[in-house]
Amino acid sequence: MESTVPDAFERMWADLAPVGRSAVSGGYFRQPFDAAERELAVWFEEQCGARGLRVERDDFGNVVGWWDVGSGPAVLTGSHLDSVLDGGAYDGPLGVVSALAAIDLLRSRGVVPSRPVGVSVFVEEEGSRFGLACLGSRLAAGAVSWESARSLRDRDGVALGDVVAGGSSALLSSVGTFVELHVEQGRDLVDRGAAIGVASEIWPHGRYRFDFGGAANHAGTTRMEDRRDPMLTYAMTALAANKQARLAGQRATFGRVAVEPNGTNAVPSRVTAWLDARCSTDEALTSLVEAVTTQAADRAGRDGTSLDVVAESVSGAVTFSPDLAAAVAADHEGGDWPIIPTAAGHDAGILSSAGIPTAMLFVRNPTGVSHSPEEHASTPDCLVGVSALADTLERLTR
Ligand code: GLV
Ligand code: MN
Ligand code: MN
Repeated sequence: MESTVPDAFERMWADLAPVGRSAVSGGYFRQPFDAAERELAVWFEEQCGARGLRVERDDFGNVVGWWDVGSGPAVLTGSHLDSVLDGGAYDGPLGVVSALAAIDLLRSRGVVPSRPVGVSVFVEEEGSRFGLACLGSRLAAGAVSWESARSLRDRDGVALGDVVAGGSSALLSSVGTFVELHVEQGRDLVDRGAAIGVASEIWPHGRYRFDFGGAANHAGTTRMEDRRDPMLTYAMTALAANKQARLAGQRATFGRVAVEPNGTNAVPSRVTAWLDARCSTDEALTSLVEAVTTQAADRAGRDGTSLDVVAESVSGAVTFSPDLAAAVAADHEGGDWPIIPTAAGHDAGILSSAGIPTAMLFVRNPTGVSHSPEEHASTPDCLVGVSALADTLERLTR
């Protein structure tokens, strides 16, 4: 690879490293529209400016830096800069930094694409603040309306409409193909001994809010048989979700819980917990959530508690264009790149569902750990990823 590109990659990576980093865990807190995430948004526009890319913003906080070359439908590549709470460095930023570096690499190769190339940053991919995953790309693609999204609220009660103007987006109007490069979030590539993979599909997944209501009371004086304790209903539901998912060969997680009033010496009045469920088919997802809900309701009946379940964010199955995946994966030095499924959600899934031919490249993650400070990819693999993305862009814009 031309020697300036690895340097540029490493410089960009070093720019990002301190932004939103917890001194305690080493993980990242880059929630949409907070100071760290906005610092990254400014950084991205500076990087576009340094490369002569024309910056186009929409009304939702999404941005594209355009390399205005050639004509016809554009090829868009990019990812996101927000993180989960205490997330890793690579989930999102690797796709953005690699896209900028891939443009550097194409230019150093003297490649002039026959179609415009854009680098995108979609806002709130993780849904860590407003609860709806891939919020920015859903808004840009028209998969969710501003009217319904504007009233989404964060944990402090701040509405999306209070932090971003909202309105419309023309960012995708000229896009013919989308490619997202992403750190792999499992160990498939490690097991295959491959640095790069191509996505075949995204598992359907959803987030469901379970509200368990009970009666606050004294922890010492209330007889055990007199309690209506929503913590018990929640605890049994968390165990049921794990068991049902194991039995069905699927995935279920309660990773977030809020307790009211959250005092040590009182039976709680309310427990709110969020189920993240992911399955190999839409039908399996529906039946897993139904099975968990049925067990929760049954237990609520025995605990004298109430149960309310709301689907907050549901993403159906995505099958990426098999022809496009095969074209991207075929004929590389060392053989074809493996084509693998993922149970992680991505903006690529939203764009694909909106009818834009879409491909994803994955870069090997040595431990497979993600959504954690431990998430990792080696620099040599990241640079192979840059080269793979440049090759892909070159193929798609020939
Ligand atoms: C996003 O990374 C998700 O899969 O939740
Ligand atoms: Mn991601
Ligand atoms: Mn993620």
